[in-house]
This record gives sequence, structure tokens and C-alpha cells, in this order.
Amino acid sequence: MNSGVIRWVFFIVVGLVLLGLMLRATARTVALAQAAAAQVTLMSPTPVVVVVVPATPAPPTTTSTATITPIPATPTNTPTNTPLPAATQTALYEQNCSLYSKIPADLLTVVDRDTALPADYVPADLEVAPLETRNIQYRAIPLRKPVIQPLLDMLDAMNQAGLAPLVMSGYRDITEQQLAYDKWLKLHPERAADISAIPGHSEHQLGTAVDFSSAYMIQFYGGDDGFNVRFADQPEGRWLARQAAYYGFTLSYPAYAVDQTGYAYEPWHFRYVGILALELQQRNITLTQYLHECVPAPTATPSSQ
Ligand code: DAL
Ligand code: ZN
Repeated sequence: MNSGVIRWVFFIVVGLVLLGLMLRATARTVALAQAAAAQVTLMSPTPVVVVVVPATPAPPTTTSTATITPIPATPTNTPTNTPLPAATQTALYEQNCSLYSKIPADLLTVVDRDTALPADYVPADLEVAPLETRNIQYRAIPLRKPVIQPLLDMLDAMNQAGLAPLVMSGYRDITEQQLAYDKWLKLHPERAADISAIPGHSEHQLGTAVDFSSAYMIQFYGGDDGFNVRFADQPEGRWLARQAAYYGFTLSYPAYAVDQTGYAYEPWHFRYVGILALELQQRNITLTQYLHECVPAPTATPSSQ
């Protein structure tokens, strides 16, 4: 072949190759475009038919919509300087103080470090408790009449449990309280007022407080070790701490409430408050706190003007 023919063959081959490449690129572009179109179709939202339904009030979840939500017994997270709404105060009072009006008022007299009894106060129904061998000092121990039978029942139960409780003190008039206070003032002047009530401020003047003991504790009396909390570890002390509430007696000055009551821990000193004692034990609060919350404030005397 001459050179002219060869040149033409060369041009035709190159042209065919170029044409093939162009066709292939075009086909690829079309395929990509189709794929993209398909994807766009897939991603397009399906038309949604929105049906507007008129709003219907939700049915009540309970039928007792008037039920009052329980209120915590102690609103600890309430700032003290923000008065509670009157309705909340009423609900709290009804919840925490429902027993107050059911206990004879003369069993709930307030007498503590801040509040004194009249100096001449003597309960009208004092009787000498028939304690016989349960009183190591063999002296008359007067108590108010409503206290005596529950006390005897409790002592019987303790005896049946193999215990030998002793009763050390009941009603004390203001003169006896002065003698007791003076004794502690002489022995421990710095803490006399923490372990003995100033005359007029003692629950013993009510005739409803009882001091218990046991034969083991007698060795500690008479000296300056008389104020001895070891009674709490004696069988009689442990029994009383658990069971006295079932007989209506409450521990007046527990260890956890020294700051609140103002008196040192006295594991032997119980006061009769009837069925309230069980509630105090269940709520783990003192009579001092209960009376602080539940004694109604005195109503204001109408002004004469
Ligand atoms: N020891 C108690 C506080 C009283 O003297 O009444
Ligand atoms: Zn006492």
C-alpha cells in the first residue's frame, strides 16, 4: 500500500476509537442521570393526607379527681420565711395533728425549758401508786389517776418478760423539784439546767412523768454519777424504749433531740400521753415537737376599741 492509503486507514481507525469512547461516555452519563432521577423519586415525600380531627378532652385517669395529694409531714424544702398558703397549712395540721383533739387536754400540757407551770399547780387527781416492791425506796410515789393503771399493766408485762423495773420518781411538787435542781447545781453547776428542770418547768409537776430504774443502776445513785445513761443498755431500759409506747408512755428526752428539748438524754424518763405515744414512736418525733406543731395558737382577744 502506498503511503496515502496508510494515512487514510490510520485516520479511520483513530476516528472509530474516538467515536466509541464518546458513545461510552454518553451512555454512562445517561445511566447516572437515570439513577439520580430514581433516587430523587425515592427521596420525594409521599403525599400525606392530613385529616383534622377536632380535639377531644382526654378522659380523667382516675375517677377520684378530688383526692388530695399526700403532703409530706415536714415541708423541709419550704423556705421558712415564705408562709405556706392557708389551705396547705390546714391540710398539714389535719394530717399531723389529728390526734391532738382526741387526747384529754390535761395530758398534753406544755411544760418545757421555755414554758413553766403555775408555781402552785397541783393535779387534782393525784393518788399514791400501789407499787409495793417496785419502788426500791419504799416511799409513796404519787401519780395522776389516769397514769396508774397503764403503769401497772406495763410493769406486769415487764415482770412477765423476766424484767425487774423500779419506779424512782413520779409527781414532784415545786419544792421537791427545787431540791433536785439544787442537788445537780451543787454537783454539776455548768450543766445543772440541762439535766434538771428549773422548778416550775418539770414534767414531774404534772403527775404524769415517771422515772424508771433497775437493781443494776442503784449502785450509781447517791454519788455524782447519778445521771447515768447506762440504763439505756439495761434490759429494762431497752424494753421500755421499744414497748412503753404501747402502754401510752413516751420518752420525753431522747438522745437525738437534745437540741430540741433542751435537756440531756434521759433513757429513764417517760411521760404518759395515752395513744399519742404510739404515733410519736411511729413518726420518730418527740412530744416537744408534736406540741410545738399542734397546740393551736391562742386566738387574739378582740380589742376593746
Ligand atoms: N430531769 C428532768 C428534765 C426534770 O427535772 O424534770
Ligand atoms: Zn424524770
